[in-house]
Amino acid sequence: MHHKREILEKLTGVESSRKTYYKELNLVVDEMKKKNRQLEVMNRLTKIQVDADWTEVSLYLAEQLSRLIPFDQFILTLVERATMFSHIAQREQDDWHCRTVTRPLQQKTPVSTEQLNALLQTEHPDCHVTSVALQSRLQRVFGFLTLLHDTPVENDSEHLVLFQQIAEHVGVSVENMILFKDVSEKVKIEAQLVQSAKMAAIGEMAAGVAHELNSPLTAILGNIQLLMREIKTEPYSQMMNDIYQCGVRSKKIIQNLLTFSRQEEYPFERLNMNDLVEDVLGLIGYQLTVSGVTIAKKRSDKPLLFRGSRHQIEQIIINLLLNARDALQGVPSPTITIETFQTFLPEGPFVGLSVHDNGVGIEKEHLPQIFHPFFTTKEQAKGTGLGLSVSLGIAESHDGKLMAQSEAGKFSCFTLLLPTTAHEENDGE
Ligand SMILES: Nc1ncnc2c1ncn2[C@@H]1O[C@H](COP(=O)(O)OP(=O)(O)OP(=O)(O)O)[C@@H](O)[C@H]1O
Ligand SMILES: [Mg+2]
Repeated sequence: MHHKREILEKLTGVESSRKTYYKELNLVVDEMKKKNRQLEVMNRLTKIQVDADWTEVSLYLAEQLSRLIPFDQFILTLVERATMFSHIAQREQDDWHCRTVTRPLQQKTPVSTEQLNALLQTEHPDCHVTSVALQSRLQRVFGFLTLLHDTPVENDSEHLVLFQQIAEHVGVSVENMILFKDVSEKVKIEAQLVQSAKMAAIGEMAAGVAHELNSPLTAILGNIQLLMREIKTEPYSQMMNDIYQCGVRSKKIIQNLLTFSRQEEYPFERLNMNDLVEDVLGLIGYQLTVSGVTIAKKRSDKPLLFRGSRHQIEQIIINLLLNARDALQGVPSPTITIETFQTFLPEGPFVGLSVHDNGVGIEKEHLPQIFHPFFTTKEQAKGTGLGLSVSLGIAESHDGKLMAQSEAGKFSCFTLLLPTTAHEENDGE
């Protein structure tokens, strides 16, 4: 009997008389379960996805921590250069919610745990605040974990030790995330630089090629027109007509490329947006109405003055109207609404023009691409995909903006904004 008790003591570490034996054994088992749970949670805390966003991380940490330590709110604070971001997770009913508070930092020295505690205490005066620092492998503090309690807590010191151990584990994962985000950002910027250098090179090359092609094309077009006048017999006449049409199309592409690379200079003059709209409608309004499109005009009665190239801005308006016409094919009661207006942006007053159509609209996944050169959804013979990219280039060379809004199957609306010169003009006159 004596021997058996000795063996049990050695196995369980419980020294006790038979009376209290089971009670103590239960305590040991509970303690082991607790430690096991802590290990399990710590293990999970090292498995944060490196590409998660900070609110996701804060919610995940809060959920895992709540299995070990009771608290009412959890805050993940990160210090990045001169800004401090606090991601505050709070349980509402059964779900965790996170909000982010951003604070600019005035001080040059690193923020200490005491300073953060004091700051959070002023923001949450009724709570008990406990923070621990997140440290890098080089002992630099880059953030904090904070627990907020609405009421004073029991087992405080035991929980604090555990909280500090957790912070060490979380620190490693969070530091990895910061490094990952840093590297991804650098890779992205590098890719953008390469892309824009490539575009610039292509632009230069295209402009050169366009110039070279311009003269032989003029000769082709001129000669074929002469021949067409001379020879009217089939099938030659049809073949020559094809040559002529293809030539005209090539000329259009070249003209667009030249404008796109801004190799051509256009004189800037004082213009009124309302007049330009009238001029363009005089030019292509008939073409639009014969294809069954109703044109509604909402003109601003103020003079919409700006400085720019008449030819280039008219080209934008034509491009927008032709795109609208193409989008309206086969649509019931096709309507284009042209509106001119004045608007005020933080940069100053702008003259605006919007072209709205109730046509096929633009698919969501196409929207980011429509301003790219050569992006077109039209069949080959119809669209070159240069209209909008050329228009955007012109708007930007006028310090303006060109924006698109659309819902597939419902409408498209393009808005051109150009800085107004009304004030300068008035001052000068
Ligand atoms: N009003 C619009 N409604 C629906 N889609 C539009 C509209 N305007 C532009 N798009 C879409 O944007 C694409 C690009 O337009 P963009 O004017 O640059 O080229 P394009 O019209 O296809 O060819 P191009 O103008 O050179 O003849 C179009 O092919 C079309 O898919
Ligand atoms: Mg177009």
